[in-house]
Amino acid sequence: MNILLTGGTGYIGSHTAVFLLESGHTVVLFDNLSNSRCDVVDRLESITNETIPFVKGDIRDTSLLSKTIQAHKIDAVIHFAGLKAVGESVDNPLEYFDNNVGGTISLVRAMQENQVKTVVFSSSATVYGEPKYLPIDENHSTSATNPYGKTKLFIEEMLQDVVAADSTFSVVCLRYFNPVGAHDSGLIGECANGIPNNLIPLISEVAAGKRPKVYVFGDDYPTPDGTGVRDYIHVLDLAAGHIAAINFLANEKGWHAINLGTGRGSSVLEMINQFALSSCRSIPYELVNRRSGDVASCYASAEKAEKLLKWKATRDLKSMCASAWKWQESLK
Ligand code: NAD
Ligand code: WQD
Repeated sequence: MNILLTGGTGYIGSHTAVFLLESGHTVVLFDNLSNSRCDVVDRLESITNETIPFVKGDIRDTSLLSKTIQAHKIDAVIHFAGLKAVGESVDNPLEYFDNNVGGTISLVRAMQENQVKTVVFSSSATVYGEPKYLPIDENHSTSATNPYGKTKLFIEEMLQDVVAADSTFSVVCLRYFNPVGAHDSGLIGECANGIPNNLIPLISEVAAGKRPKVYVFGDDYPTPDGTGVRDYIHVLDLAAGHIAAINFLANEKGWHAINLGTGRGSSVLEMINQFALSSCRSIPYELVNRRSGDVASCYASAEKAEKLLKWKATRDLKSMCASAWKWQESLK
């Protein structure tokens, strides 16, 4: 299939592009480079040995999207493009609604204009709000505590309405848990703009000596070692989940929300210890107060993905940390 990847030069989009090409699909990357660099395209070409079309553009530009869909005879879209920093969304909510929700409206219009009716959307476990039970399955109630999370929830609901209005439209909303790690080549990975927001990029920078220590937010949670527990998933497993979703939609219509997680929770201290082993570096840390808005534990039920998508995460923490470290080392 010819697949358009909005946000295709970003962290998850670039890893998914590799897997799609390796599975025999054709990809077109569409990105405004607001949080990625165009040299990702060169790097992807050297990993895959293929020429990869790239369009620099904003998803709010419906006309450019429509022209791209026509020019490349697009069959399906994987929609990664979006702003994703929770704190920034609290300070700048309109930017988030405009970019993420407005951008998705523009994308769906361009798809409709061209009779493209298959889309996989990058959603997030953030749509579950405060977990009421664990592991979190897809029947868990949804809510959002910040503007970023609200954009994900609105987009999911909007896509549900689009499907209700047109039964030939098919949507999978993939609810990612905590993506980490990088491609084994060390050529692509997560590019943090300024101070990283997430744990693994922060640990990586401490291991590399760019920061003095990791501040561990809270050691009094009701978890085995008192630190927060999350479902860290290797970005390559996540990439494989997108191929599975595209294959699933070849035979299915309707709207589907599916978790992409491992089903296993790991604590902050476990991640620090594993990263220290994988990088052979000491990782100083300090226990500090809880971060406001954090939950104690959050991990997925991965059963629906296994049942519907025939997909399961296979990579362990060692592989996640080793690949993240290889990527960090390449940034020297
Ligand atoms: P990323 O920032 O690396 O990639 C997103 C890409 O979208 C970037 O390359 C950016 O330049 C591009 N983009 C943003 N707005 C755009 C616009 N208006 N027009 C065109 N391009 C635009 O982020 P990522 O980690 O690869 O995340 C991809 C998607 O997955 C996002 O929608 C994010 O919300 C979602 N997600 C990410 C995580 C995570 O922890 N990384 C977790 C859950 C969900
Ligand atoms: C993980 C754990 C922290 C930094 C966020 C978004 C979510 C999703 C994924 C997009 C927690 C602890 C962290 C640090 C720490 N993104 N921590 N010290 O909060 O689970 O989820 O990213 O959809 O929407 O909210 O990920 O990596 O920030 O934190 O102790 O310096 O690490 O308290 O327990 P989180 P995270």
